[in-house]
Amino acid sequence: MLKSALHYSHDLLAQVVQPGNWVIDATVGNGHDTLFLAELVGKTGRVIGFDVQKIAIQRTTERLEDANLSQRCALHTKGHETIDELVPFEQLIHAAVFNLGYLPNSDKEVITQAQTTLTALKAIMKRLAPGGRIVVVVYYGHPGGLEEKNHVQQFAETLPQSDYNVLQYGFINQKNNPPYLLCIEKKRTKNAR
Ligand SMILES: C[S@@+](CC[C@H](N)C(=O)[O-])C[C@H]1O[C@@H](n2cnc3c(N)ncnc32)[C@H](O)[C@@H]1O
Repeated sequence: MLKSALHYSHDLLAQVVQPGNWVIDATVGNGHDTLFLAELVGKTGRVIGFDVQKIAIQRTTERLEDANLSQRCALHTKGHETIDELVPFEQLIHAAVFNLGYLPNSDKEVITQAQTTLTALKAIMKRLAPGGRIVVVVYYGHPGGLEEKNHVQQFAETLPQSDYNVLQYGFINQKNNPPYLLCIEKKRTKNAR
């Protein structure tokens, strides 16, 4: 069976993340992606996670403690737009993941927003290792979602082909605005950091 955007996001991450890498979970939520990334980076790697909701960071902290993986994660109860303040510019990031939208079974009013999502994407791109990937799972069926989708889509579509490969993946015959995925991969060029 073809994979959903969410499942395929993990394949795209697993293909590039190596033990020892630093990676970012830009929308921690219930911590499913954080846990997955923590397994990929191994004991010497680091997962930096962001979420504006305390409940998300609490749930994910517990999830990581249960799996004995909290040592390799730094979770921030802050918006991903603060990446420039919290992640050194020199630190190479090998992968990042965003799940846009709201936290399931929680406050549906707290949603990711176009401007802060774009700020975070740009901050990560400045640190992205050659061959590194940013995977964005775009949910846009909720109020406010379409506006964010349009901005993120336009940003991704206009990235220079000389520097980035940009992939779009999703089902095109499903009802109710199914989520789809964008993956921004930094090309390995001569001028790479
Ligand atoms: C779709 S959920 C993430 C699901 C998560 N990846 C998981 O595995 O459960 C989106 C999350 O983004 C969070 N969020 C909203 N605005 C944010 C921001 N500016 N920075 C970081 N997280 C934000 C919400 O609080 C919510 O938990």
